[in-house]
Amino acid sequence: MKYPIVAYGDPVLRRKATAIEPDEYPHIKQLVEDMFETMYAAHGVGLAAPQVGLSMRLFVIDATPFDKDEPELKDFKKVFINAVIEEETGEEWAFNEGCLSIPDIREDVYRKSTVRISYYDENWKHHDETFSGLAARVIQHEYDHIEGKLFTDKLSPLRKRLIEKRLSDISKGIVDVEYRMKFPAAKKGR
Ligand code: NI
Repeated sequence: MKYPIVAYGDPVLRRKATAIEPDEYPHIKQLVEDMFETMYAAHGVGLAAPQVGLSMRLFVIDATPFDKDEPELKDFKKVFINAVIEEETGEEWAFNEGCLSIPDIREDVYRKSTVRISYYDENWKHHDETFSGLAARVIQHEYDHIEGKLFTDKLSPLRKRLIEKRLSDISKGIVDVEYRMKFPAAKKGR
C-alpha cells in the first residue's frame, strides 16, 4: 500500500518522533514494506515515518541510485528503527539535497562526512555502525526527519528568504508533483 507523502508545512514534520516499542507494533514489517513502496514510487532514496504522517522513530533508505558515484552503495537498502546518532565526525561538505516532502526544491547543504549510528532493524536486531560519504548523507537527512528537522533549516538566511514563497506554495499544494501528497494548507478541492 502506498501512503500519500506529507508536504512541507504539516506539523507532523516538526514533531520529535517517538521511539517504537516492539510489542506496540507487531505489524512493523508491513509498515516498512509500505514505506519502501511509497518511496520507490516517488523515486526517493530515503523516507521517514513522519513523511507518511506517523510520528515514529523509523526511516528507510535505499541508496542504490547513487551506485554510479559510489559503487559500494549498490543494494544499500536498510531500515532504521529507534536510531540514535552517536557521533558525527570529519569535514563538512556540501551536497545538493532534496526531500520528497519539499518537491522541486534542491539546495546545497553542509554536513559532516562520517556518522556513527546505533539502531534496530526490522527484525529488532541491534546495530552500531559507521557510514561515510553519500550513505552518511542520506542517513543524516532522514535522521533529521525523526528529530522534526528539515534540510531547509540548514540554509543561510538569504537562501531561506529566496525559497520562502515556494515553500508556502508547496504547503498549499501549488506544485507539480507526480506522486500522491497531502498538503496541509490546500484549499478544498485541490
Ligand atoms: Ni526528506
